[in-house]
Amino acid sequence: MIHGYGRTDYCANFTTQDVGKKVRLMGWINKRRDFGSLVFVDLRDRSGIMQVVFDSSKMESNFDEVDQLRNEYVIAVEGEIVLRDEETINEKLKTGLIEVSVRNLEIFSRAMTPPFYIEDDVKVGESLKLKYRYLDLRRPEMQKNLIMRHKLATTARQYLDKNGFLEIETPMLIKSTPEGARDYVVPSRLHPGEFYALPQSPQQYKQLLMVSGLDRYYQITKCFRDEDLRADRQPEFTQIDMELSFVGVDDVIAINEGLIKQVFKDILDIDVQLPLPRLTYQEAMDRFGSDKPDTRFGLELKDLSDLLQDCEFKVFAGALKNGGSVRAINAKGCEPKFARREIDSLVDYVKIYRAKGLAWISVTEEGLKSPITKFLKQEEIDAIMDRMDARPGDIIFFMADCNKVVYDSLGNLRLEIARRLNMIDENKYNLLWVVDFPLLEYDEDEKRYVAKHHPFTSPKDEDLSMLETSPEKVRAKAYDIVLNGTEIGGGSIRIHDSQVQRKMFAALGLTEEDMETKFGFLIEAFKYGAPPHGGMAYGLDRLAMILAGRDSIRDVIAFPKVQSGACLMSEAPSPISQEQLDELYIQTVEKEEETSEE
Ligand code: AMO
Ligand code: AMP
Repeated sequence: MIHGYGRTDYCANFTTQDVGKKVRLMGWINKRRDFGSLVFVDLRDRSGIMQVVFDSSKMESNFDEVDQLRNEYVIAVEGEIVLRDEETINEKLKTGLIEVSVRNLEIFSRAMTPPFYIEDDVKVGESLKLKYRYLDLRRPEMQKNLIMRHKLATTARQYLDKNGFLEIETPMLIKSTPEGARDYVVPSRLHPGEFYALPQSPQQYKQLLMVSGLDRYYQITKCFRDEDLRADRQPEFTQIDMELSFVGVDDVIAINEGLIKQVFKDILDIDVQLPLPRLTYQEAMDRFGSDKPDTRFGLELKDLSDLLQDCEFKVFAGALKNGGSVRAINAKGCEPKFARREIDSLVDYVKIYRAKGLAWISVTEEGLKSPITKFLKQEEIDAIMDRMDARPGDIIFFMADCNKVVYDSLGNLRLEIARRLNMIDENKYNLLWVVDFPLLEYDEDEKRYVAKHHPFTSPKDEDLSMLETSPEKVRAKAYDIVLNGTEIGGGSIRIHDSQVQRKMFAALGLTEEDMETKFGFLIEAFKYGAPPHGGMAYGLDRLAMILAGRDSIRDVIAFPKVQSGACLMSEAPSPISQEQLDELYIQTVEKEEETSEE
């Protein structure tokens, strides 16, 4: 690498091999210890730290300036790499055996005292760190995360290039298309009263590229969605996006398994075993109560509905009568670890997921303890204990409700119990595909079926005939890739046949005109010869977050936004001037009442 400004190399790139070498290093002062005529400074740059020693007897001039040095000053030093004295060796530091004996000092810039120490694990609130993000990014951990993210993107680019993908950019100012999340919109000055939308993903453009014959497209690109934020959601985030022509589900999966294998090898030096496990959506829901199951631990759900057909307990009987189910998980060996108080707090916990209650049976050497056994017949209890493989020390948690609530609350209860009891092995990376998603889901508000992915997702060939008769049963050629319980990517094979597309629109309760207004140019394009095609997109931030061992995607994004969608550093969003508003023909109104939304 060529270093400008007379720099020999980055601070931490020197070893004992370099002893005796004359060097010129630059960086920030991380720490300074002053012993009068001897001053030690830890010099920091993106590679790490080098100890530099200012000894008044060894410096050619300006030792008086050493006195002025403070943390975060930016300096250059010239001197010689020497071995450290025995007593100053630091085994924890990469450069802990050596130091620079300084001859010359140059101060480039002085620094105010930063609002927090520039060190990992610094105890300071996240909002202060985000306000001074440029200082926060000086922390070694943050630098490591961003360097890793760069490697991840580079690996993806190299892999996709090697496999014949073309990187093609798609526009950021596009037509607002309903469906999916809320759009961010941009007013048009030249078309007063009209707006562009920022893309929620390049979905339609990448399909158009397939119609254009530009097979194997990819792009690492920003996407924008105006959604409520969570730890793994940002209003703008990055996708590794791809689309391929003349492919089926297995082809897309094979290409992507190769990519995942390469990523794990390059980033973590882990050999991922291929093929990755595949779960159908139904199996994922039945076993884990989630379409993004974390399989690093057990606590699987079991369906008990068939054992409780004649049950007299009104909660269970009621749920079954309404077409719901009774399911349970066995918290194996948890009885001694969960006091009654803890169980009660779990009962409260599931209420977040709209559960009306949570029944439990605690299995002890002395017998069963439970608020519900009195409502059950002995043979029902025996059958449940048998199916749940219950042993003394176990607690069985039951949920009876419509399937949606049962899956959601037991799926989340499973995660919560695992977290509380430290059952998750943080060194494991469990990857899997979830396939055969339902094509449609019923929207209670709109009183119609809506596409679970998007309206161009292809139904499975063998389910096509059910599109008119029982739409809820139709499965899609859609797939998600899940890593440790996080959906890191997903995609589908698209509809390229106009007959099928027409049936799909009908199932969605939309006329062709409706669809033309929404997706006009794509539907028009399909009339001129569309190849069979499909693709997928990864959430790059989410993948990077897990590879970095973090819980929030903010830790792998240089300048993230907070929960409210604001950037604390730049203070975006912000009001704009009246001139700007006038130019855009926009009038604003005062917000009438505050919502309680965070
Ligand atoms: P989807 O909407 O599933 O698919 O998005 C793909 C992946 O992007 C990530 N992701 C997010 N990451 C951070 N913040 C967000 N707000 C956010 N939303 C989504 C997830 C998700 O798996 N066009 C389709 C892909 C296709 O069909 O080819 C799409 O965008 O990890
Ligand atoms: P109740 O008859 O409402 O007092 O409920 C008796 C027990 O069943 C309590 O332990 C409740 O927490 C539990 N319970 C109530 N509703 C449900 C439900 N939908 N699923 C599972 N358990 C429930």
